[in-house]
Amino acid sequence: MTKALTFPSDFLWGTATSAYQIEGAWNVDGKGESIWDRFSHTPGRIERGDTGDTACDYYHRWPDDLDLMKWLGVQTYRFSLAWTRLLPNGRGTVNQPGVDFYNRIIDALLEANIQPFVTLYHWDLPQTLQDEGGWTNRDTAEAFAAYTDVATRAFGDRVKHWITHNEPAVASWMGHFHGEHAPGFSDADTAMRASHHILLSHGMAVPIIRQNSPEAEAGITLDVNMMVAGSNSAKDRALAQQADGSWTRWFSDPVFGRGYPEDVRIGFEQQSGKSFPMDYVLPGDLQTIAAPIDFLGINYYRRHIFHIPTPDNAPQTIFPAEKTPENWTDIGWENYPDGLTHMLCRMAFEYHPPKIYITENGASYDTPPNEKGEIHDDLRVNYLRTHLAAAHRAIEVGVPLAGYFAWSLMDNFEWARGYKQRFGLVWVDFDTLERIPKASAHWFRQVVQENSV
Ligand code: FCB
Repeated sequence: MTKALTFPSDFLWGTATSAYQIEGAWNVDGKGESIWDRFSHTPGRIERGDTGDTACDYYHRWPDDLDLMKWLGVQTYRFSLAWTRLLPNGRGTVNQPGVDFYNRIIDALLEANIQPFVTLYHWDLPQTLQDEGGWTNRDTAEAFAAYTDVATRAFGDRVKHWITHNEPAVASWMGHFHGEHAPGFSDADTAMRASHHILLSHGMAVPIIRQNSPEAEAGITLDVNMMVAGSNSAKDRALAQQADGSWTRWFSDPVFGRGYPEDVRIGFEQQSGKSFPMDYVLPGDLQTIAAPIDFLGINYYRRHIFHIPTPDNAPQTIFPAEKTPENWTDIGWENYPDGLTHMLCRMAFEYHPPKIYITENGASYDTPPNEKGEIHDDLRVNYLRTHLAAAHRAIEVGVPLAGYFAWSLMDNFEWARGYKQRFGLVWVDFDTLERIPKASAHWFRQVVQENSV
């Protein structure tokens, strides 16, 4: 056993979820349709035809899930609000049962001494707004600002941590460029336009949060996976640079006041053979987007290696020699903890956010219950342990890391991959909806208790 790594005394430990992935009750108590309702109901979009209609049925079972969090001993819980529960049509009339639902959860969390850490947008845009062009339409940024006003007026007295957007890169590129997420478009120009309005809406929301929730911290969560070239070839290096540029810098640069990275725009133009003048970026937008934030949330899962084998460079690839369950998770993502240290240092030392939270980190492993009903997900424990050690190394060199949220509290609807990909500390039986804490939940409970790994 190596020596225990102790975290700062005020370090926040939490688990994370998002509304569409767990709540179910998609059309209950006045909730409106979101783009994920529409997308999952469209044949062929989701593996096995899975939908979030019921998901973990958290809408009805959340008190049991709160008991699990109390047992885990976490100090905080990150969850998202379903925009369509509060504003079924995206804007206009507020749906009181939706407000009541989140009020009950927030009050119960505070009662249990668990800080609510609320994400405003985890990808479930109201379908009515999509019908008007969704994020490609500048009006959607206005609608997001108005929604932020409703949410922060309703909950801002008690919620002290607000995340505007979760992974705008995934919402932009997976939703509008690669077509794998709602709303399912495959066009670079559409995606770039969407990314700009998402970022603009972030910048518009920050001052509203400050006004309605003055003691709260406001931030944004970016997905910062590590993108590297698999060899020294010019092709591999260009691919890695464009991937890092489009997934990380395209978002972090404007949020921290540097505007859009020009090399990435040119990369998009070269890829699609069109020119992208970005005339939808209006004067003042970049200042709006650069509103000072109190923290940067980062989600880290993996390293991506870009490699086109050629006779000369094939042997130089840095892929792991062999894919094993330890270094390769069920979803096909590499387990690469050093990338977390690297990305934490990079985001901290290049952009100087006042604080960083790891708002998601975790692994998909499908380890089922054994005959005694126990789940020995040692592979997940290994993933989490090595990533926490990696996070600790970043703290040691001065990264202002203030908290860690395990993705996820429980198995849930993993977007286009459906229920087969299980990221939970808690097993969910999707037939009976029974919950069983896995070995990783027991292990995480001890980490939280001891504040060390
Ligand atoms: C992230 C998402 C989260 C979950 C994990 C596995 O990209 O933010 O909702 O799906 O991946």
